[in-house]
Amino acid sequence: MKLWSGRFDKNTDALVDELNASIGFDFRLYKQDIEGSLAHSAMLARQGIISEEDRDKIHSGLREILADIEAGRLTFGNDVEDVHMAVEGELTRRIGDAGKRLHTARSRNDQVALDFRYYLMGEIRRIHRMELDLIETLINIAKRNIDVIMPAYTHLQRAQPSTFAHYMMAYANMLRRDVTRLEDCLERMDECPLGSGALTATTYPIDRRAVADELGFARITQNSLDGVSDRDYAVEFLGTISLLMMHLSRLAEEIILWCSWEFKFIELDDAYSTGSSIMPQKKNPDIAELVRGKTGRVYGDLMALLTVMKALPLAYNKDMQEDKEPVFDTVDTVENCLPVFTAMLETMRVIPENMRAAAGKGFINATDCADYLVKKGMPFRDAYTIVGRLVNHCIAEEKTLETLELSEYQKLSPIFDSDVYKAISLDTCVSSRSVPGGPSHESVMEQIRYMEDFLKDRK
Ligand code: ARG
Repeated sequence: MKLWSGRFDKNTDALVDELNASIGFDFRLYKQDIEGSLAHSAMLARQGIISEEDRDKIHSGLREILADIEAGRLTFGNDVEDVHMAVEGELTRRIGDAGKRLHTARSRNDQVALDFRYYLMGEIRRIHRMELDLIETLINIAKRNIDVIMPAYTHLQRAQPSTFAHYMMAYANMLRRDVTRLEDCLERMDECPLGSGALTATTYPIDRRAVADELGFARITQNSLDGVSDRDYAVEFLGTISLLMMHLSRLAEEIILWCSWEFKFIELDDAYSTGSSIMPQKKNPDIAELVRGKTGRVYGDLMALLTVMKALPLAYNKDMQEDKEPVFDTVDTVENCLPVFTAMLETMRVIPENMRAAAGKGFINATDCADYLVKKGMPFRDAYTIVGRLVNHCIAEEKTLETLELSEYQKLSPIFDSDVYKAISLDTCVSSRSVPGGPSHESVMEQIRYMEDFLKDRK
């Protein structure tokens, strides 16, 4: 028999129960639901809305239910509809009339609004720590590879020399923004909606502030219609994680390229690689590929929730029950991906010789060669044209700027002198890019110090 059966002459059809039920997925909110009910009933008793005796029964009943669920002694089927009905129904079965008083001055609408926010706030704190761990790993890799020269690319064409440390710190900065985005999202979400009732609050003299304090919320929501209808915090969370996944996916893509034989800049640890069922020589970067692939499903979760919410009139509509699965899916995906991704990076072997060799081909010091002429007084555009011709000549002669004889240089401009070789050496190219943000040893150390301070403020 349904809780609302008074108004109905018939039971719901079994197929309706199946479609309507959310217990299969929202069961995950049982702890938040019970904690919310503990705080709500404590407040009801303080305000004289229920007796202290009833409150005590409710409290011990809820605690037993929590223990039974956690011990795996209590499970629910589709007939209970959702986690809120499941817990309340079970409570009443156990303690009788006192259990029927729990839902005074409350609706499932503000209850689910509370549970979902409360749950997400906990998960955000976990994801936040995982992101900080990843930044720490990127810093460690940067420190170990501070002078490891590698080519940096535009259009995936070798462009200018950088270092592996500089490269890692680029990703650390993306992650830093992901961390602060998550913090912003949490800060905005930190409002307790309980007391919004079904949609227009309640006539009981409840103390919303006290419930919010007890549960650890910074504030209460300001408007009851908004309190039960708002899911922007969930959309914002999915947007924030989508950006994080985009960053992980870009790095994953680089890892995949770098461990190919075409690059061989890195070698993944065996524990973070997989083999092929047919090709004995294969060692595949499946973890990086999965992170790249799962980025797609997180984007899908974001689009799903945006689409569910886009035309809903105020206040609660059952469509909103569809908010949970995308969010749970994203939480599971990101919590699964982040620690493995971090460990994969931490254990990968960097191959500096190959990076340096790749940097030695492809004329990535051509800009520096032009700058050499500029420093000797030539306008940049003229220098640019001359070095373009030099490169063209080298390609035809199968030479590099390093191996081209001085006499050949001087054919194009008499300004060239023997100091050109030092000016275009990879080490000079990197060490002279010493402005803030650049790849020189000191510039990257400065970036590392900045990032370490960022981490220190959060530990
Ligand atoms: N299971 C529902 C959800 O997740 C709970 C709220 C139901 N409220 C209602 N009036 N049907 O959204």
